Amino acid sequence: MITGKYPNLRLRRSRKYDWSRRLVQENTLTYNDLILPIFIIEGRNKKESIKTMPNVYRFSVDKLTSVVAKAVKKGIPMVALFPYTNLKKKDQNGSEALNNDNLVCKGIKHIRKKFGNKIGIMCDVALDPYTIHGHDGLLKKNKILNDETLDILTKQAVLQAKMGCDVIAPSDMMDGRIGKIRSALDKNNFKDVQILSYAVKYSSSFYGPFRDAVGSKKLLKGDKKTYQMDFRNSDESLREVSLDIKEGADMVMVKPGMPYLDIIQQVKNNFRIPVFAYQVSGEYSLIMNGIRNKIIDKASIKETLIAFKRAGANGIVTYFADQLEL
Ligand code: PBG
Repeated sequence: MITGKYPNLRLRRSRKYDWSRRLVQENTLTYNDLILPIFIIEGRNKKESIKTMPNVYRFSVDKLTSVVAKAVKKGIPMVALFPYTNLKKKDQNGSEALNNDNLVCKGIKHIRKKFGNKIGIMCDVALDPYTIHGHDGLLKKNKILNDETLDILTKQAVLQAKMGCDVIAPSDMMDGRIGKIRSALDKNNFKDVQILSYAVKYSSSFYGPFRDAVGSKKLLKGDKKTYQMDFRNSDESLREVSLDIKEGADMVMVKPGMPYLDIIQQVKNNFRIPVFAYQVSGEYSLIMNGIRNKIIDKASIKETLIAFKRAGANGIVTYFADQLEL
């Protein structure tokens, strides 16, 4: 690195005025960097608040029009859909995931019809919103089955693609799912449907409010440590990403966000592919509560989002996406 020496070199010179700071800034945040998650519920004309996530709501499908219109207007490139499934539709094997009239399918169709290709639609592939035990895969004798789960996930992905989903986002952390999903999509002539793999997803305490939002929190039996990653590990994240790239992932996600900036940076530097960060529900609620209680100010939001960019993320999934003024 080329450097200088005080007093010839005074780094404060470039910080003197606003214009000068803007001139030398290394990273920027625009709406292009953001993905907006949306929670969907049954019913009509419904906007339901979520206790643990201030300012975030569950919307009925008809209400998606105004939510997505706002995102389109801002130039947010993509929304991510998550269903709050009624308890009576949940079962041991998450069969509602394959119902072609489930909330996610309805949501995709609605958005596609109203907005054409003006905004991307991304959908999680995992069973947790649909299982009575809250796990992402099939549960048998206290074990989460891998290969048996893959069959259902593959069907779920193909169904979402059929409905018009642009970006399939497997978030279940089963081994081998990207390859299976890629070949099933191709076989069904969805060769251009993209896969954003949640390649690096840690078993984390920061998902609490999300599980509340999709109604799986109280149901969850045990934890997800046999499939989600141990937060003590970083080398393993590179192995996960390299596997998923070989299997056909177009883009990868690192999740949660802020405690894992080192991982984002390593993934970016090692693979030079599109990397996304998920600023998860727990991070969102902590920041939001801090702002509401006047412990930190609103500018903290942008600071966290720029941090992801600085680390190397191409974009961020964040519940702040439609609340920000950039
Ligand atoms: C489920 C899923 C989770 C999140 C996104 N997809 C939770 C989990 O794995 O338990 C978390 C998102 C958030 O906390 O905002 N596969």
